[in-house]
Amino acid sequence: MSKVTVVGAGNVGATCANVLAVNEVADQVCLIDIKEGLAEGKAMDIMQTAQLMGFDTIVEGVTNDYSRTAGSDVVVITSGIPRKPGMTREELIGVNAGIVKSVAKSVLTYSPDAILIIVSNPMDTMAYLALHSLGLPRNRVIGMGGALDSSRFKYFLSKALKCNANEVEGFVIGGHGDTTMIPMKRFATYKGMPVSQLLEPEEMDEVVKQTMVGGATLTGLLGTSAWMAPGAAAASVVESIVKNQMKMIPCSIALEGEYGYNDITIGVPALIGRNGMEGVIEIELNEEEKALFDASAAAVKKTIEALKGLNVL
Ligand code: NAI
Ligand code: 2OP
Repeated sequence: MSKVTVVGAGNVGATCANVLAVNEVADQVCLIDIKEGLAEGKAMDIMQTAQLMGFDTIVEGVTNDYSRTAGSDVVVITSGIPRKPGMTREELIGVNAGIVKSVAKSVLTYSPDAILIIVSNPMDTMAYLALHSLGLPRNRVIGMGGALDSSRFKYFLSKALKCNANEVEGFVIGGHGDTTMIPMKRFATYKGMPVSQLLEPEEMDEVVKQTMVGGATLTGLLGTSAWMAPGAAAASVVESIVKNQMKMIPCSIALEGEYGYNDITIGVPALIGRNGMEGVIEIELNEEEKALFDASAAAVKKTIEALKGLNVL
């Protein structure tokens, strides 16, 4: 019997719960929100698709009663405010830090062994907050950003190559920010062939640029931040844990010397399985990639410093 809690029944949380149900990732999904009736309504709406979509997962909606989340194997935290057009993810720190800390504490009261997946922005810093304010081992706190950014990278690669996105491989490391993420163009492949040999350098640079502002582009179009791909990306991390798939998913992980860093949570290729983060894959970065990673880490550290100034750790 597997149980997943999704905190925050807004756009990303409800989409994540829906994907978890439709793909029968868990037997039970508890969707919880602070807003009276919202989670109950979203859960009921999802359950009314059960016979249409043919799934058996039970999705339950709850208003703020954390006892109902008890026994969760994985908890996805999406609660907090999203960015509006023109805002950076980093600007959300003040409001979201208090929310993420309090909900993480509440879920752990009833599911002390749960693996936490942090979605709320600024995600790398919120993962750092959850890890340090709750004193958890690093395998149990996973920031979701790289799964989404990598999916966007593959989408833009497929558009440039005029092929199906499923024929493309690629990943993104670094911070989950418009200027901090690093689409790894050197490793992108189409059916095993290096994309660098199939696209002109300018075309590849354009793909990288579109990927980096992928979230901002959607925020501009939608008036709030995206939710379909973010919800599905969070669900893919949950699935790798619940089914012990040991998939390589770029996630924000607390580094302990890997890539030359400590005391930071930042996106790196990670193995995701039953125990959460089961290992960091250290690839050899070339000079350009190392410089980008260093700049990204400096920016993430700056936001972590801002967090420390809020006295929430
Ligand atoms: P939303 O506004 O649609 O949903 C947020 C929900 O959190 C609301 O329903 C709200 O009532 C709830 N909430 C607020 N305080 C709460 C509390 N104390 N306890 C329980 N629930 C609470 O926002 P959306 O679009 O779902 O985004 C959620 C967060 O995820 C934002 O911070 C956004 O920036 C972030 N995000 C992160 C992504 C990533 O890749 N890491 C991608 C997309 C969004
Ligand atoms: C996104 O990348 C804003 O983090 C959010 O869509």
